[in-house]
Amino acid sequence: MTVTQPNPNPTPKTPQPASTDDVTVSIDGREVRAKKGDLLIKVAQDNGVYIPRFCWHERMKPVGMCRMCLVEVEGVRGFPPACTTTVNDGMVCRTQTDPVHKIQDGVLEFLLVNHPLDCPVCDRGGECPLQDQTLSFGPGESRFTEEKRHFEKPIPISDIVMLDRERCIQCARCTRFADEIAGDPLITFVDRGDRTEVLNFPDHPFASYFSGNVVQICPVGALTAKPYRFRARPWDLATVETSCTACAVQCRGALQSSTDRLVRFLGVDSDAVNHGWLCDKGRYGFEYVHDESRVVEPLVREGNGFVEKPWPEALDAAAAILEKTKSLHGAGAIAVLGGAHGSNEDAYVWARLAKGVLGTDHVDAQLGDGLPAEAVLGLPRAEISDLDHAAAIVLIGPDLKDELPVLHLRLRRAAIELKVPVIDLTVVGAPITPTTIALRPAPGEVGVVAERLVAAIGKAGGGGDDAIANAATTLRERAGDVVVVLGRGSVAEQPDATLRAAAALAALPNVKFLSALRRGNVHGALEVGLAPGVLPGRVALDDGRAAFTEAWGGVPDARGLDATGILQAAAAGKIHALVLLGCDPLSDFPDRTLARDALEAVSSIIAVDGFLSDSVKQADVVLPPTMWGEKQGTVTNLEGRVQRLGRKVSPPGSAMDDWRIAGELALRLGSDFDLEQIDEVTEEIARVAPAFAGATAAVLRRARDGVVLPVAEHRDEIVWRGGALTILAEDGSGASWEPIRAGAAGSPDLNDTTAETGTAPEAPEETAAAADTVSAAPAPPRSVVWDRSFGSPDAPGRDAYALRLVTGHTLYEGGRTVVSSPPLAGLVQPRRLRVNASDLTRIGVDDGATVRVTSARGSLDVALHVDASLPAGVARLDFTPGARGAADLIDVSAPVTDVRVETLR
Ligand code: SF4
Ligand code: SF4
Ligand code: FES
Repeated sequence: MTVTQPNPNPTPKTPQPASTDDVTVSIDGREVRAKKGDLLIKVAQDNGVYIPRFCWHERMKPVGMCRMCLVEVEGVRGFPPACTTTVNDGMVCRTQTDPVHKIQDGVLEFLLVNHPLDCPVCDRGGECPLQDQTLSFGPGESRFTEEKRHFEKPIPISDIVMLDRERCIQCARCTRFADEIAGDPLITFVDRGDRTEVLNFPDHPFASYFSGNVVQICPVGALTAKPYRFRARPWDLATVETSCTACAVQCRGALQSSTDRLVRFLGVDSDAVNHGWLCDKGRYGFEYVHDESRVVEPLVREGNGFVEKPWPEALDAAAAILEKTKSLHGAGAIAVLGGAHGSNEDAYVWARLAKGVLGTDHVDAQLGDGLPAEAVLGLPRAEISDLDHAAAIVLIGPDLKDELPVLHLRLRRAAIELKVPVIDLTVVGAPITPTTIALRPAPGEVGVVAERLVAAIGKAGGGGDDAIANAATTLRERAGDVVVVLGRGSVAEQPDATLRAAAALAALPNVKFLSALRRGNVHGALEVGLAPGVLPGRVALDDGRAAFTEAWGGVPDARGLDATGILQAAAAGKIHALVLLGCDPLSDFPDRTLARDALEAVSSIIAVDGFLSDSVKQADVVLPPTMWGEKQGTVTNLEGRVQRLGRKVSPPGSAMDDWRIAGELALRLGSDFDLEQIDEVTEEIARVAPAFAGATAAVLRRARDGVVLPVAEHRDEIVWRGGALTILAEDGSGASWEPIRAGAAGSPDLNDTTAETGTAPEAPEETAAAADTVSAAPAPPRSVVWDRSFGSPDAPGRDAYALRLVTGHTLYEGGRTVVSSPPLAGLVQPRRLRVNASDLTRIGVDDGATVRVTSARGSLDVALHVDASLPAGVARLDFTPGARGAADLIDVSAPVTDVRVETLR
């Protein structure tokens, strides 16, 4: 595995006619077409000619520092660097001449003057561009025999990254990444001449959320990651490509194992998603999978403790709870919480079990920190790449750097490099660029501000507040789509203000929404129906009743409760059996008092979980599932992109895939899903869920960047023909094709002579009957449309002594991924309350003092700090899963959370 690589097999695109910008260039005697202004090194690479390089990186601006890419260009004096030379029509370039080889010899000889040549003990050994290019392009021996320079080696520049300055070839990839891409310019070159070295600033560690990327793109072993140092050699590693599920961006990466243990996760350059970058939580947060405390055998409660049981007994016990609850109290007494941690297939089979077999719609993959599924699924959707060419980006939601870090990088690139204006309606957080128009609504008032903004767009000159007028002018004047990044800015307020803002902005023409829900596969879970009121494939419960009754044998009679409603009903004694799918409400729900009351009141809990969290400890049955890296299937990211998961290690003990657990329970409850292999689940989703029509296992295997839902709107090879959605043959000729939604269950195996376009295939004997089946297929249910409803329209007034609480999640907040992954465990930040300096003065304490924070729900002692980015009257307390914190102050039944802050006497 090398460092971030170009996508070798991008999603097929419709061929474009030659543009007037196209030029013809000759490279080593071969004529190639390119875009005028493209870099010569990239044009050569795209046409199979590798020009050696160290400093150039496809995702960063060229600097021409290392001189490794010098080539001959006819008519140009000397040897220009291919990485800073742009192509023009008729350019003739040669990369393989004797003078070029001589220069490459010389450059490598110089680069090695001070290089320690400690390859046998260097982590990069075996996958080092310097090593590889010295062998391929370098001289056989060096004329330099003088003493090399020496530094203390290695030195830590952060909790994660070590620096071996002797090995550095001063390519500036790391410093440019930190500055240009991450916006964390915490490392730089210091000193001059032969003393030049890369270093962090005194007393400022390289504490960037994205520090692992510099390790990956460093072309030598100068920067190494503590967690991987001396762990393995490239030839020991087995690799599979997969998606990170530590947040909903789902960055693509290469997951590597040695001796059946996960040892490394590297970014893979997905043009659609992550451009090769990962955040450090995704990169280093996989070790929880091998945590010693993991539950690997089923557990059944006996008395006050758990006893390990074989799977059949544990499944019987779980099924008995569900059956008894349903017969005694009805399906509405059963609820399922969670399911955002696994694959689409896991969530789908659980949705089928809950809605189709148990008959309950009290199902929610979100945990009081999201938005209603109808809003997420029913608003016009944007892709991540839409940020790059948007007319403007409107940001409503959390601090993306903390909750969706690589989306923050994509947004930053759009704003800084591509000059897309950003209108920031988040309550807290630093503006993404100095030119960001920050409207900064007070907590609970984002809806009002969005309405004012939309009203100002309609008025000549904007009117009213200067910032709003400025934002309105920006939105009015630039052509193109407006992309609204939409999420929950604070879990200390109800989602209604956010929904009100979404409803207002949805009225704009050319608006698209990019969801900022953060949980790993929450979008996959919502897409396959693991939420109240929806069925798989973006179908509303009522609209899909007929189709899903036929496919599943039944669906619930009425819309169920969301997570908050489920916990409130449980606390009121109305939920008797609660299934926790990889979720821990006691740690992770915004209102701990409600979660505690609910779990205490519920009669039985079945937990599908690999850890004995506070909530799982209260379960009657614990069924251990497989985890990331151990399971196959697909996931869906925040733009609705379905991509494949890779399995790299064996599950420990007898852990079972979540979807199999659901299937086994269904069997015990009298329904045989007849699903044996993961691909069969993927196929069933593609068959029954309209938005997934076309997302078959075969299509997903060949779609390098996955497919975006609804598949038929995004893939040229998915077309309507003869009354059915159809996948064209791989060559796109239409000469042979197969219907994928023929109405009846079963593998697609039909041909059709009623094709509307393309060449009709030779009709086999059964074609006539098959065509009839296709034509008679009922149209799929219509896609869910959000009715733009929201609750309480205005935030209540605040008394003069109270501060309004804002609570969001931070990257290293102390969840399972972080605390059970040793490289990250030490990065959990202590809990602290942050306020504007004026509020600190009013409270009458010094920065850092411990204060008592009291809400209507409870109180808490916490250190108080000044945060200049916060407006007066707002207090920020980050969410701390598992530990006392904001969840002890928040009452989810109140629109906002107001707190009093007092000094401790
Ligand atoms: Fe380049 Fe690595 Fe040196 Fe940074 S540390 S300048 S990436 S060689
Ligand atoms: Fe994983 Fe999210 Fe980080 Fe990407 S941004 S590496 S998906 S945690
Ligand atoms: Fe061109 Fe370094 S790659 S100068």
